[in-house]
Amino acid sequence: LTILLVSCQEDVYPTDNEQLSHEEQIVIRFSHVVGENTPKGMAALKFAELVKERSNGYIEVQVFPNGVLYKDGEELNALLRGDIQMIAPAISKITTLVPEWSVMDLPYAFQNADEVHTYVESHVGQTLMTKLNAHNLWPMGVWDSGFKQLSNSIRPIKTVQDLQGLRVRIMPSDILAEQFSIVGAYPKRIDFNTVFHQLQKGNVDGQENTLTNITSKNLYSLQDYLTISNHGYLGYLLLMNHEFWNSLPKDVQTLLIETLEEVQEWEWQLAEDLTAERLDEMEACDCIQIHRLSNKDMEEWASTFDPVYRYYADNYGKKYIEALPKNQS
Ligand code: LMR
Repeated sequence: LTILLVSCQEDVYPTDNEQLSHEEQIVIRFSHVVGENTPKGMAALKFAELVKERSNGYIEVQVFPNGVLYKDGEELNALLRGDIQMIAPAISKITTLVPEWSVMDLPYAFQNADEVHTYVESHVGQTLMTKLNAHNLWPMGVWDSGFKQLSNSIRPIKTVQDLQGLRVRIMPSDILAEQFSIVGAYPKRIDFNTVFHQLQKGNVDGQENTLTNITSKNLYSLQDYLTISNHGYLGYLLLMNHEFWNSLPKDVQTLLIETLEEVQEWEWQLAEDLTAERLDEMEACDCIQIHRLSNKDMEEWASTFDPVYRYYADNYGKKYIEALPKNQS
């Protein structure tokens, strides 16, 4: 009987082992550069919480905010190497790999976030998504930060001419560089996590960013003037390492896709709400002079930026521009 038991146990053992290895936790390290009190920061945490709950702890998304694990300029390479599994960089930062994505940086390309979402879903948007696969990137959606505003410490910016001579921090994107060069400003590519320091040292006079980023990093405390220009979209591509994605069991992939779909909807609304809240707070704080461009001003600004569109068309192709909502009849 003892012998029988032992042999039974031996039979059973491999199965137990299989189950053990199946139940080994899947860890997804998700690194990003902004604070936890921003749309991206909050959505990353919500995603982690829902995934943990829905997988009974089997999948753990570990979120590293504020560039603590990998800095702004490092996270994409860390993902490509497989050191982390997920990032959500600003789309502008993907343009060094896939420059066609800089269509999203074109000034006044979109009037609101709905237009952005429709564009991303369109045939041309999906072509842009597919281009990421060649770089071992697996795109899983788009999150909003919102529309960028301009702040600086030299003068109120009311007309495009007021930008002349200003040294302005930008994200690494040729289109953003063009946007400032053609109006006589000096764009400087600077890592997000050092913008505060660079403004403080006076190495740049101003910067462009969304209100949640400007407030979360306290940039407005160093600046005297803010222009509500809504001149460009800032959003994120949710990216996984493609090889890692392919290694995941089907049911895990389904859980992640479904959860991200839900979180994406939630994040879009959150970005809109937080942006409105931050603007109210800045208006109430009386700590920075705020100028709002009128619709007519924005039309004028937009036409000044026409050469940036030509630059894009010459370098990356017309079709991405032709598919923009403003070029659809
Ligand atoms: C920036 O560099 O300004 C942004 O990409 C930061 C962010 O991720 O929102």
